[in-house]
Amino acid sequence: MIHSTAIYQGPREELDDSVQIHEYAIIRQGVKLGRNVVIHPFVVIGEGVTLGEGVEVFPGAVIGKEPKGAGATARLPHFERRVRVGENTSIGPHAVIFYDVEIGRNTLIGDGASIREQCKVGDSCIISRYVTLNYNATIGNRTKIMDLTHITGNCTVGNDVFISIHVSTTNDNKIGKEGYHEERIIGPQVGDGALIGAGASLLASVRIGIEAVVGSGSVVTKAVPNHALVIGVPARQVGWVCRCGRRLELTGEMRGECSCGLRFELDGTGLGMLEVGHGP
Ligand SMILES: CC(C)(COP(=O)(O)OP(=O)(O)OC[C@H]1O[C@@H](n2cnc3c(N)ncnc32)[C@H](O)[C@@H]1OP(=O)(O)O)[C@@H](O)C(=O)NCCC(=O)NCCS
Ligand SMILES: [Zn+2]
Repeated sequence: MIHSTAIYQGPREELDDSVQIHEYAIIRQGVKLGRNVVIHPFVVIGEGVTLGEGVEVFPGAVIGKEPKGAGATARLPHFERRVRVGENTSIGPHAVIFYDVEIGRNTLIGDGASIREQCKVGDSCIISRYVTLNYNATIGNRTKIMDLTHITGNCTVGNDVFISIHVSTTNDNKIGKEGYHEERIIGPQVGDGALIGAGASLLASVRIGIEAVVGSGSVVTKAVPNHALVIGVPARQVGWVCRCGRRLELTGEMRGECSCGLRFELDGTGLGMLEVGHGP
């Protein structure tokens, strides 16, 4: 079904009968829409976009926006004219997805979220309301990034990460004073399973360890070991945490056992999990 006010520039014979294109939507040529795709009113989809089966795009969203430097941005934008969105993903009202972006399946892109060129978002993620992903950010699978958080350019976020509301991440400690050199502009690297509390700031290139916890309001200025709990400004380590969220006490042999049954040992990158039945 294509509403009479919608503009669909592709060949109609390639469009499955199950696709719905509502009032005033604009779908440029070279767009591929899977079965049961729903395009709500006033959506604009650029050439070269592919939406998988069951994708729903809410009113006013733009998919396939050209990044424009307008001579003002430090980094010259470059991009390929393609966007791929996996099946059953939902793109919220007024979200803006730039060109050269890949989004996995079963992912929720919230209202007004903005995703810049060269970003990759995995499967079953939540990129919540008004989150901004700057260029070349990579987000793993099952990761949740909550409202109004900013993910900076060249940042990597692992699988099963939770980043709370109003978190800021940065990629240049010199704040542009030394010009833009791609190799020097490095965002934080957030390890699998890490939890980042509300309002925390992660400074350029810091590594947040696997399943580490950053308390709310912390300013993280240096690497956080795996399973560490850090708080404060600047963030300091105050303990260790298990995957289940409980605090861990270490023995004299630098080992810890949680009441949930998981066991850990100190290694060069923080606490490493021991296999069940490993060690004395
Ligand atoms: C860091 C955190 C995990 C600690 O929780 P906790 O172990 O229950 O700690 P407590 O509340 O018992 O506080 C222990 C001490 O740390 C201090 N503290 C706790 N959180 C702190 C924080 N974020 N920054 C600075 N100090 C903090 C407390 O004031 C207390 O100090 P005191 O012993 O001098 O009184 C928790 O406070 C936190 O920041 N959680 C993140 C919450 C969040 O952002 N959730 C997102 C949901 S959307
Ligand atoms: Zn545990």
